[in-house]
Amino acid sequence: MSEKNKAAAREELDAWSSGELDRLDGLVAPHVVHHDPCPPSAPEGLEGLKWTIALTRKVFPDLEISVDDQIAEGDKVVTRWSATMTREDDPPGVPAAGDQTVLSGMTIERFADGKVVESWRSPDLLGLVQSLGAVPGIEREEVVIKARHNGPYKVTGRVKLIDADGDEYDLSDKGEAVALCRCGGSTTKPFCDGTHSKVGFQAAERAVRESL
Ligand code: FES
Repeated sequence: MSEKNKAAAREELDAWSSGELDRLDGLVAPHVVHHDPCPPSAPEGLEGLKWTIALTRKVFPDLEISVDDQIAEGDKVVTRWSATMTREDDPPGVPAAGDQTVLSGMTIERFADGKVVESWRSPDLLGLVQSLGAVPGIEREEVVIKARHNGPYKVTGRVKLIDADGDEYDLSDKGEAVALCRCGGSTTKPFCDGTHSKVGFQAAERAVRESL
């Protein structure tokens, strides 16, 4: 049952990526309870989930979500995920659209009769608005390069990116995070364009932990 619920949670995230909202009818109960609706004004139940996905995809039409990790216990599934997306709309106070950004988060879902009946979502919204440049004045001195599971390198901090000729890429519109292609398939190298999830990129490497 746990594996079936995990597969349903992954399929639900696929619907966020594809926009095929009808697929949710077989995965999510009509009166599912969202404990952390985003935005808070979203309608309740399954309709609210569809409404939220449609709204998100309107702003980020190329939204792609990949699953980084999943844990299941009893009737609950925890999914850690990350999303790449490019903004097309220009919310007030946010710099010009066209920047690709990365959002990570965690979702806990409770299942009954094979469908989600309760959910708790914790997206890193502060990281998102920082990467969109909507929170000025916050700077991170330390440079961190994080390998996304089967995805790009996410670089945060104040960095310079130099090409083979010594010319510097303009990162002024990239906000707080830059996603660098690790799969080799991006059409906008060195930046990630989400191709990794379409080509099924598998990155097996892990940092070696010292044995105790
Ligand atoms: S890692 Fe994202 S396109 Fe290559």
